[in-house]
Amino acid sequence: MSKSLQAIRGMNDILPEQTPLWRYFEGTVARLLDNYGYKQIRMPIVEFTELFKRSIGEVTDIVEKEMYTFEDRNGDSLTLRPEGTAACVRAVLEHGITGGGQVQKLWYIGPMFRHERPQKGRYRQFHQIGLEVFNLDGPDIDAELIIMTWRLWGELGIRDAVKLELNSLGTSEARGRYREALVEYLSAHHDKLDEDSQRRLKTNPLRVLDTKNADTQAVLVDAPKMADYLDDESRAHFEGLKARLDAVGIPYVLNPKLVRGLDYYSKTVFEWVTDKLGAQGTVCAGGRYDGLVEQMGGKPTPGVGFAMGIERLVLMLETLEQIPEEISRQVDVYLCAFGEEAELAGLALAERVRDQLPNLRLQVNAGAGSFKSQFKKADKSGALYALILGDDEMAQQVVGFKPLRGQGEQQSIAWDALAAHLATCVVQG
Ligand code: HAM
Repeated sequence: MSKSLQAIRGMNDILPEQTPLWRYFEGTVARLLDNYGYKQIRMPIVEFTELFKRSIGEVTDIVEKEMYTFEDRNGDSLTLRPEGTAACVRAVLEHGITGGGQVQKLWYIGPMFRHERPQKGRYRQFHQIGLEVFNLDGPDIDAELIIMTWRLWGELGIRDAVKLELNSLGTSEARGRYREALVEYLSAHHDKLDEDSQRRLKTNPLRVLDTKNADTQAVLVDAPKMADYLDDESRAHFEGLKARLDAVGIPYVLNPKLVRGLDYYSKTVFEWVTDKLGAQGTVCAGGRYDGLVEQMGGKPTPGVGFAMGIERLVLMLETLEQIPEEISRQVDVYLCAFGEEAELAGLALAERVRDQLPNLRLQVNAGAGSFKSQFKKADKSGALYALILGDDEMAQQVVGFKPLRGQGEQQSIAWDALAAHLATCVVQG
């Protein structure tokens, strides 16, 4: 027998029993973003490799180790996008929609690809909802992004399980000065650093702050602090953000070691973390990137954004059992018809009802079957009501209306009155 085909490790099917929760989550976020005035943008999944190298940074884990890069038939080096910010910046520049200081508030959704070691909450194809704002440089918009996510956690019922971590990386000049001081300090303790941190010290020293190694963490206790190197502008920006979060009552924790794994950030960086998912606890992360557009060939254009991992948030909803009951029911009414004549009449009746109630979820039995088997299918569909069309009903031009959940006797409803009757008993989404 030939070996059966399998999906690629770390790339998952999202099965029909899972999609209602995904659609609930995605729909909730999309509605929220609409309400705050954000517009959706859709970028390709594949871009020139150069785009990610120039934006995310050559010496980041993503670019060094995790990208799905290949040569296409023209000999161009292409990469499956590992994140959305770079492509979004490329798109706004290419279409000139941030020129002349035009404000853009954009969001996107879709799969991203990173060749990481798969585990719970970490996949090689995963899905993000991200958003990017261009040409607003004040802390008010940083605050709006965080306030919006706070509202989202509230709507989803997971607010108590997430924590906001905040830091400021300062302007690139401030960060440069800090990097020098950090390198000087760490170089003096070179022998006490773990191997990975010794390597990072040369390539991307700020990432040493992120280490999980206990010995290196001990060395870091007395290391220079980023906060002491912030310039006045970054400090004022950070204070402005904190004041707004305080005004709305959003709790946060200052984490001076929060540096993020992508190189484009300046000033504000933040992460929403949870302890409910094990090791992969960051559910949403982002920050400001005021230098990125210019670095990619555009005019100086401030930018700020974040992305959330859909798999992780769906897992949170499952773990915390925050799944609204109604999302698992996908059928309101199930129509059973017995015999050829009833089947034809049933089809026509169903279409008439759909004309009158476009939001009704009405499923017509397919594949004929006995009374018992059709009834079983009606019940299994999760429908609230079954409609029954047999010989007796045909003769009287009525349909049997039978509640499937809970109380209530079967009754006969005239065909002409069916839509009006259904409208009174089914709450339509
Ligand atoms: P990121 O921190 O690399 O940032 O990813 C954002 C979120 O995507 C993470 O917090 C996590 O929830 C999810 N995520 C990342 N990698 C995986 C994975 N392998 N499996 C499952 N989920 C994952 C960015 O991507 C930036 N582009 C965010 C941003 C937008 N910054 C400014 N604008």
